[in-house]
Amino acid sequence: MCSLKREFHYTQEDFHRVRLLLKAISGINLVETKDSMVYSRLASRVRFLKMKKVSDYLAYIERDAEELEHFVNALTTNLTSFFREPHHFEQLTQFVRSGESVNRVWSAASSTGEEPYSIAMSLVRLWDKFDIPARVVASDINSHVLKAASEGAYHLDSVESIEDKQRFFLKGKGRCEGMARVKPELRELVEFRQINLLNDEWPIEEEQDVIFCRNVMIYFEKEQQEALLVRLLTRLRKGGMYIAGHSENFSQFTNLMSPLGNTSYIKR
Ligand SMILES: C[S@@+](CC[C@H](N)C(=O)[O-])C[C@H]1O[C@@H](n2cnc3c(N)ncnc32)[C@H](O)[C@@H]1O
Repeated sequence: MCSLKREFHYTQEDFHRVRLLLKAISGINLVETKDSMVYSRLASRVRFLKMKKVSDYLAYIERDAEELEHFVNALTTNLTSFFREPHHFEQLTQFVRSGESVNRVWSAASSTGEEPYSIAMSLVRLWDKFDIPARVVASDINSHVLKAASEGAYHLDSVESIEDKQRFFLKGKGRCEGMARVKPELRELVEFRQINLLNDEWPIEEEQDVIFCRNVMIYFEKEQQEALLVRLLTRLRKGGMYIAGHSENFSQFTNLMSPLGNTSYIKR
């Protein structure tokens, strides 16, 4: 750990406690080099609680469930964007065009909502109307990003490259200048739920037609990734589509899924 003068007392032992706790709660396996990142993400909570040491904060979250939620929220990485990995949205469109029925789509680590709204936009484009038979359930462990997702307000820059953005977003005026808000017709197609993929219970219907679980498994250890994949597949109908992130390759699971290319699969 580097010896910068820090505002709060922070040791290697604190960092290891954080790693163990975060892994036990969320499955996220922080690498050894993330000690400074952990400090910078937790410092604002330590300051807010008027504490002097990260160790005091760690003792506190063991007794306070609400603060534990802030702890998890602070430590997840929520990078996402509209139509990230665009081939997946084309594959979804192709899947429906090929005659597959798609009523239920689960975006299983939806972050701030760009992914589930991109799914909904793809389906609206496909049927050329908002009154579509499909719904998207968007879930995440992080309550803060879920709230932002359900509010559906984004910087104009982040929607700039969406060609038909006027169909899906309202441009903010006055104090909302520079922002774009998801139109209510699109918002209604997406339901947000807090789901920790590590929990035994998932409040999610069975027989999903499509599951997007992208760029979250990379934070988990191999064994956990495989166990989670097997569990996720229990929520997907036979012949349904499973979509993983660009660095999450499951092509060795040919007994469970047939690869479609670009980290998309069809459940056997
Ligand atoms: C990098 S973002 C990926 C967002 C989106 N799927 C994409 O590919 O653009 C990873 C998300 O996984 C969520 N996450 C991490 N651990 C989780 C868990 N155990 N259960 C559910 N979500 C989790 C994080 O909160 C974060 O929002």
